[in-house]
Amino acid sequence: MKAIHVGLLGLGTVGSGVVKIIEDHQDKLMHQVGCPVKVKKVLVKNIEKDRQVHISKEMLTTNVEDVINNPDIDVVIEVMGGVEETRDHLISALKAKKHVVTANKDLMAVYGTELLSIATENGCDLFYEASVAGGIPILRSLVDGLASDRITKMMGIVNGTTNFILTKMSKLGSAYDEVLKEAQDLGYAESDPTSDVEGLDAARKMAILARLGFSMHVDLEDVSVKGISSVTDDDISYSKRLGYTMKLIGIAQRENGKIEVAVEPTLLPETHPLAAVNDEFNAVYVYGEAVGETMFYGPGAGSLPTATAVVSDLVGVMKNMRLGVNGRSAVAPQFAKELKSPEHIYAQHFLRITAKDQVGAFSNITSLFSERGVSFEKILQLPIKNSNLAEIVIVTHKASHSDFEEILQRLNDLQVVEEVKSTYRVEGNGSI
Ligand SMILES: NC(=O)c1ccc[n+]([C@@H]2O[C@H](COP(=O)([O-])OP(=O)(O)OC[C@H]3O[C@@H](n4cnc5c(N)ncnc54)[C@H](OP(=O)(O)O)[C@@H]3O)[C@@H](O)[C@H]2O)c1
Repeated sequence: MKAIHVGLLGLGTVGSGVVKIIEDHQDKLMHQVGCPVKVKKVLVKNIEKDRQVHISKEMLTTNVEDVINNPDIDVVIEVMGGVEETRDHLISALKAKKHVVTANKDLMAVYGTELLSIATENGCDLFYEASVAGGIPILRSLVDGLASDRITKMMGIVNGTTNFILTKMSKLGSAYDEVLKEAQDLGYAESDPTSDVEGLDAARKMAILARLGFSMHVDLEDVSVKGISSVTDDDISYSKRLGYTMKLIGIAQRENGKIEVAVEPTLLPETHPLAAVNDEFNAVYVYGEAVGETMFYGPGAGSLPTATAVVSDLVGVMKNMRLGVNGRSAVAPQFAKELKSPEHIYAQHFLRITAKDQVGAFSNITSLFSERGVSFEKILQLPIKNSNLAEIVIVTHKASHSDFEEILQRLNDLQVVEEVKSTYRVEGNGSI
């Protein structure tokens, strides 16, 4: 029985997990695909480095050609990260008729469409389950499990670092900087946390999800992005008083054939299923016209959870090899790109204003909203001690982005308004 030979690009956190799962679950893999799976060659930067898994030095190489152009290797697993150089390696591997499994969201968000079409041209599989929400099999659920439905909305907590930070801020009432430092000390946040806290990592995952869920060409630049670095403990405390939980949410929704994809700190009712997703965990909420609400929950990162997704993709490749159908499972997007314009994007909004605590101030403010037909769901007004100012916190009913932006501009010009302190999107209140 001929073994399937695998080459790895990278042997770090995820790569070590892949080697471990292939070794530890060899029986199960044999049973599923009918032949042994063997790691043949592994690309690393530094051969002398200590490794998390036992692997002989002869199997390691610093020459990528030993993997991507190795005639003995059937499947290349890319777990090295990076974008431009890695794209070139994967194109060469696909042209050399190697099937590819990758965990690389940075690469797939930018070059996914190109790489998938090169894979199809070469009769190869290119699977990337681990690129979104690590251990949660969300891509396969969209492509297979929900294949018969029309998905209209996805909301994801797809970045563990920001979820950890917001959970701690909410539970302990701590300030952002303090919790970020703790997350860095615990290894949940990078020393340069920009990609996570500014929402860029989540945006890459949402671009991949939107592309698959809506079967539409979506580019990373189509995702509107706002991170959590300006969220304050006061914002969280006021939103809690109104019954909301703050999360960094990726939102992708489709209406009348047009889509919106955004990542932003968002308030969810405490009863919403995503509000209960805490610490570094991830979850993706999917609404399908026929199925209704579904939610997928689990670890978004980590060596073994992510490696599980990678090796499951490998099993998918091997099953296709047995059936002789590799390269035929990637379906090109059905729809050309159609993005919603701001006047067609509707959401509820939370805003915190400091205003002069004087007669008529409140009616000045409310009339700006009513002129644009925007009504309030919740209002809180509190005098600020030892000042002539009051804090006003409002949650509006649904309003278009363009109307809300115009209201904000006019609020800033009002003489009674001291400052618009913060605004957040509110989601998950009843209707989809
Ligand atoms: N970590 C997670 O939980 C997680 C979750 C989901 C997705 N991912 C994705 O999985 C990929 C790998 O992440 P990771 O956390 O495993 O990274 P990592 O721990 O930094 O490992 C990277 C590995 O690739 C090797 N490498 C990097 N650049 C190289 C180059 N130019 N030439 C040769 N070898 C190179 C490194 O070699 P040396 O060991 O010799 O330095 C190392 O073994 C990334 O795309 C990441 O976004 C990670």
